[in-house]
Amino acid sequence: MTATGTTGRPDPTADTMPTPMPSKAHSHPSSHLPGHSSAHPHSPPDPLMLRRAFGCFPTGVTVITTHSNEAVPVGLTVNSWTSLSLDPPLVLWALGRHSVSLPVFETTGHFAVNILCEDQAWLSRRFATRGDDKFAGVPVRPGLHGLPLIEGCSAHIECRMHSRLPGGDHLLLLGEVERVDVLARPPLVYAKGRYHRLGLAAD
Ligand SMILES: Cc1cc2nc3c(=O)[nH]c(=O)nc-3n(C[C@H](O)[C@H](O)[C@H](O)COP(=O)(O)O)c2cc1C
Repeated sequence: MTATGTTGRPDPTADTMPTPMPSKAHSHPSSHLPGHSSAHPHSPPDPLMLRRAFGCFPTGVTVITTHSNEAVPVGLTVNSWTSLSLDPPLVLWALGRHSVSLPVFETTGHFAVNILCEDQAWLSRRFATRGDDKFAGVPVRPGLHGLPLIEGCSAHIECRMHSRLPGGDHLLLLGEVERVDVLARPPLVYAKGRYHRLGLAAD
């Protein structure tokens, strides 16, 4: 499954990253580095290499939820989520234009960020898979505005929709934080197409 279209984000559903194609460009010494793919400094990066490079950046994993006008819960797995501003308190994430959930997030006034903990990889997989039964068997409680909050997460961040901006093949969604809830559970980590637990602190 292609998770995020052609942006180059690594396919988050892949168990391992794809093997890069060998580069045919050897005009510069740096092109001999393993994984180097660009034939010309201004040529577009090879999509596979772009995914591989983006996948080197570890992220947490969230499930972002809201509900439709008919009160149907909606959610998807998102690792593009990031904090943006403390004052005002803003967050940002990118929603693929291919997403079935797009029409709801284009109109909803609120969303909740459920930051998954290390034993919730199954929820990441569940909410990255299209279907009508994403919430089946998932323990959920209502948050502000009736937002679905998934139980057992590392944190919940409930937001009012602040703005929507174009972002290539994604839609950027900014939220203003209305309420936070932090639990003492280690967050799930995602890197190079795989799920990880936090290791030892490096300092
Ligand atoms: C770890 C991981 C991270 C993901 N991050 C994003 C993301 O940031 N934005 C996005 O639009 N899709 C992301 N996806 C893919 C969506 O979760 C997936 O396409 C999902 O099926 C979309 O649901 P929908 O089509 O029902 O809306 C990610 C998937 C995984 C497994």
